[in-house]
Amino acid sequence: MSLLRSLLCGVGAFILVLCVCILCLNLQWILTWFIGLPGILHVTKPRTNSSSQHPNEPLERGISTNQRPLSPLTSTPSPIRVPHTLTPTKRQKTTQKKSESSTKSPTIRPNRATGPTEPPFIGDSYMREDVPQRTDCSDSIRGQIKKTVFGSRFLGHLPVLQWAKHVTEEQYERLSQYPGAHGWGGIKYKTLVETLSVLNSSANQQMLDNWETHGNECSRCAVVGNGGILNNSQKGQEIDGHHYVFRTNGVIIKGFEQDVGSRTTHYTFSTNTLMNSIRKYAVNGYKGPPVSKEMRYVFLPDHDRDYLLVKAAATHTPVDRGPEKDKDPSKYFGEDVSAEKLKMYHPDFIRYLRNRFLRSNALKTKYKDIYRPSTGAVMLLAALHVCDQVSAYGFITPDYRNYSDHYYDRSYHPVGFYINHDLRLEMNLWQQLHQAGLIRLYMRQKKSTD
Ligand SMILES: *[C@@H]1O[C@H](CO)[C@@H](O)[C@H](O)[C@H]1NC(C)=O
Ligand SMILES: *[C@@H]1O[C@H](CO)[C@@H](O)[C@H](O)[C@H]1NC(C)=O
Ligand SMILES: *[C@@H]1O[C@H](CO)[C@@H](O)[C@H](O)[C@H]1NC(C)=O
Ligand SMILES: *[C@@H]1O[C@H](CO)[C@@H](O)[C@H](O)[C@H]1NC(C)=O
Repeated sequence: MSLLRSLLCGVGAFILVLCVCILCLNLQWILTWFIGLPGILHVTKPRTNSSSQHPNEPLERGISTNQRPLSPLTSTPSPIRVPHTLTPTKRQKTTQKKSESSTKSPTIRPNRATGPTEPPFIGDSYMREDVPQRTDCSDSIRGQIKKTVFGSRFLGHLPVLQWAKHVTEEQYERLSQYPGAHGWGGIKYKTLVETLSVLNSSANQQMLDNWETHGNECSRCAVVGNGGILNNSQKGQEIDGHHYVFRTNGVIIKGFEQDVGSRTTHYTFSTNTLMNSIRKYAVNGYKGPPVSKEMRYVFLPDHDRDYLLVKAAATHTPVDRGPEKDKDPSKYFGEDVSAEKLKMYHPDFIRYLRNRFLRSNALKTKYKDIYRPSTGAVMLLAALHVCDQVSAYGFITPDYRNYSDHYYDRSYHPVGFYINHDLRLEMNLWQQLHQAGLIRLYMRQKKSTD
């Protein structure tokens, strides 16, 4: 009898504890979403005064891995260290269904009514733009992707790049809601007009702007990260054999041609990551963006300093204000740089990548404002949207511990993980895209299941 009673007591206590736990978890969840409400979001983001010294400045992956993390934020145990799965949540799935069928407005794709479950800062609705079919490739990513698990996330009618046409008062009102790389929040309308109006040629609108010269082939792009897996890879010739070669941030070619190739057609960076790379990798031989005849510079804008540098480069004038004030852009992009050589990612495209391909758990934490896909991830996913075929080299793989952070490191440095990016989520995404046959990811070891 007394045994039964204590048993019942035990069970009762257990259920009570369980209830309290569930309550706490929910409360935390509600709170994390609550702080994402507008107003509060904008107050906490002093965009206009951010410089690379700002403690909240997003650290680019690989920028500071040789050192201890620069940001005090990184010393806090980070919730994004929890392993991720890529399976979209039920909520995402239903919103995507809705979004795909809703095309009320000719320009905006209203993906969903902002429901109670998704905070407004997510903004899963984007400008719609018709993308002309540029090749007759029968084996293109665009043709294949709808048949894969990525089909429901993929939007084929979204501007990848922003240019003169996009800067209107209406768009400004819409995009000002989103800070950082995800919108125009904190950027003056005048700054946008001054910069984007010089990006008004067809080359500014298209990533593969000279594709006509290649005829009726499938466009093949090599997208090259700076990962240590490329050390001794002997992939240089293969990389250079593609129509286009994309590179990013602290890329060092001289002396590594055998492994990484020598051509670059597209160099992707943000002004912040470029300046960080120049500071950090000068000792390894990095002097700035590669300069060549076939080069295009693709800016990932996440501050107004990006808009200011683009304008300066396009007009061959010194930067007129901000952290790069008085700098001569030809120092970075060569004397021959012209507006036709410059491109800028559209903030809708970056937000779309974050929301649909790299929706990190960091978005549920106080770090949501500084989280974005890494520059390398944006570059690779942009290639996925504009090239018929994509090979990726030097991107993070599950055996990343076997390789140094960069192929040019003089001694082994482990890959660094920071809260502003989610490299584990990116790693899983590259594996999934590879397994779906959408990209060809360079890995050292074939998996035994292959
Ligand atoms: C940015 O902040 C610094 C120090 O907090 C201040 O001295 C400077 O005037 C600010 N700059 C702008 C443009 O607000
Ligand atoms: C861009 O070019 C078009 C056509 O050439 C022209 O009508 C338009 O005014 C230009 N826009 C800007 C902002 O210069
Ligand atoms: C990576 O390292 C582990 C153990 O350190 C080893 O078993 C494995 O074979 C290595 N993989 C490669 C690709 O070198
Ligand atoms: C690069 O590869 C060589 C040969 O495999 C190796 O000796 C060297 O340690 C590697 N470099 C780094 C930084 O891991």
